[in-house]
Amino acid sequence: MSNKQLSFRSPGRVNLIGDHTDYTGGLVLPMAIDRYTTINGTRTPSTVRLCSQNDPEPVEFELPISAPEKVTPNWGRYVAGVAAEMQNRANGFDGEISCTIPIGAGLSSSAALEVATALALGDTSTPVERAKLCQRAEFRAVGVPCGIMDQLTVASGVRDHALLIDCHELTILPVQLPNDVKIVVQFIAERKLVSSSYGERVVQCAAAEKIIGPLRLARLQSLASISDQTVFRRARHVVSENQRVRDFATMLRTGDLKSAGQLMIESHNSLDQDFQTSTPQMNSAVTTAIAQPGVFGARMTGGGFGGCIVILADATAKVDGWQVRAVNAASQRD
Ligand code: GLA
Repeated sequence: MSNKQLSFRSPGRVNLIGDHTDYTGGLVLPMAIDRYTTINGTRTPSTVRLCSQNDPEPVEFELPISAPEKVTPNWGRYVAGVAAEMQNRANGFDGEISCTIPIGAGLSSSAALEVATALALGDTSTPVERAKLCQRAEFRAVGVPCGIMDQLTVASGVRDHALLIDCHELTILPVQLPNDVKIVVQFIAERKLVSSSYGERVVQCAAAEKIIGPLRLARLQSLASISDQTVFRRARHVVSENQRVRDFATMLRTGDLKSAGQLMIESHNSLDQDFQTSTPQMNSAVTTAIAQPGVFGARMTGGGFGGCIVILADATAKVDGWQVRAVNAASQRD
């Protein structure tokens, strides 16, 4: 086995609009961002050994691996999950991980680690197949029943574009971001999906679908037959959010940023009131942001229960947070 030094990196992602729609096959509009997880090292015959700049304890196991959920340290389970899903297609790898995506901030540090790992272990499948593999790996290794948005975004990012993704068809339509806007991410609080009520939301959406069929095809009028008020509100968020994603993509294309910003605020309110994934700190950060001159809109982004808000603003507006740019997908670096 050659000991040629290899380098792979995956961006994180921020979602502009369309949260908690992916696991019912709905629409999302995220972008890959210029914050990265990088894995440098060499291929080995059958040992995976990775150290992380964020943890003194490395992860080390032999291939093939059948119980990734038992691996330590905990972050190593994402690596092991990917190796387990790749089965006998996985190569060994000895290397080091570095990361500029804040961990636990809802910017897909987990999906970035999974997708960068798949590349490092020699995955050569398509971005859609890679994303599916990494989604399965996350479920298998840490038990989060996540949708496909994060993995698909970091595996398919396009520079200067957001991605309109149909999570049922798994089609991706890049939508160019206007030149005169900036996208700013503001960190609110650390959170972990593993210990959040994310899984409960997935179950509630499935309960709604048992009554009215796929939410991605439902109309607001059809929700009346859901008698449980909590399930009704979860479904109302999903159905209205899918429409907001469609409209937002149109407004980005036509440059109607004021209306696009308004949709972000509506999305935030729906996530707060109907889906109940926002927090008081996120609500007050959104209120503060949208009061700033030049801000079109703001909303919580990602799974919620903490994490970040995302702000769409005029390029000249003064807004607290990190400005992010849309970048290309995870890849091997020369
Ligand atoms: C997390 C999940 C995604 C998606 C978002 C909410 O980021 O990993 O699949 O469900 O939450 O939109």
